[in-house]
Amino acid sequence: MNAIYLAFDVINLPKAIVGLQEIGAVGCNVTIPHKEEACRLMDWLSEEARESGAVNTVKFEDRLLGYNTDVSGVLYSLELLDLGQVDSVLLLGAGGAARSVLLGVRERARKVFVTSRNIERARKILELCVRLGLDAEAVPWTERNSYLEKIDFLINATPVGTEERGIPINPALLRKGCYVFDLVYNPPRTPLIEEALKKGCKAIGGLPMLIRQAAEAEKIWFGVEPPEDVMMRAALSYLGVRYEV
Ligand SMILES: NC(=O)c1ccc[n+]([C@@H]2O[C@H](COP(=O)([O-])OP(=O)(O)OC[C@H]3O[C@@H](n4cnc5c(N)ncnc54)[C@H](OP(=O)(O)O)[C@@H]3O)[C@@H](O)[C@H]2O)c1
Repeated sequence: MNAIYLAFDVINLPKAIVGLQEIGAVGCNVTIPHKEEACRLMDWLSEEARESGAVNTVKFEDRLLGYNTDVSGVLYSLELLDLGQVDSVLLLGAGGAARSVLLGVRERARKVFVTSRNIERARKILELCVRLGLDAEAVPWTERNSYLEKIDFLINATPVGTEERGIPINPALLRKGCYVFDLVYNPPRTPLIEEALKKGCKAIGGLPMLIRQAAEAEKIWFGVEPPEDVMMRAALSYLGVRYEV
């Protein structure tokens, strides 16, 4: 394929998008922390982008077309986790990725507790929960650990566990049998995943989601069916990892 994929640190999103369109790019991905702003800049939104209020994939035509392929990545990860119906979920983070997660879990969870360092951000995302018909509650970040004993599913949609190598909760309080989904993909096995597996939880990292959302974006830009196994091998080799995710 005669194409190139480049990464840029973006200072001004509206100008960056117009600039890319002007130089003839086919499209772009948008990542942390720009997904919600990107959604507001689009001329047309896919159903997932409209419902979540977050855009991670843009296609340049005569208009700006906004998609959210993270939702497919979340659904794929839940399938790999073999997640059936759960009672309650603790969602760490209330940014663009958390919005895609909520679309993914809406059919599967009875109650969602959302926590973010900035409680206002957690409260704001409750509006989305209401629209999705999810029973949800905002929880102060400082109280998140006290929920670990009562939830069936923990989701990390914060960057904690990536470069800083931290762990966003106290793993000693994780219940055996709890499902854990860490959206962080670098490293593919974060400290949270390691600790969850030790506690007998069923856990998955963010790499399968990353590959699926990227494959869906390529379909949107080029109309091709990309080989996800090749993409996974390339990602693992780039990250210097040999084990299965
Ligand atoms: N696997 C995948 O395919 C995939 C796809 C999408 C995103 N992700 C990952 O998901 C994470 C979130 O992305 P996003 O787009 O949602 O970002 P975002 O819109 O910037 O939101 C980040 C969220 O994390 C919280 N946060 C940031 N730094 C934190 C810290 N040091 N401690 C505690 N909370 C912190 C923020 O809290 P406050 O604003 O309240 O402080 C906010 O709620 C990133 O690591 C991203 O790489 C993975």
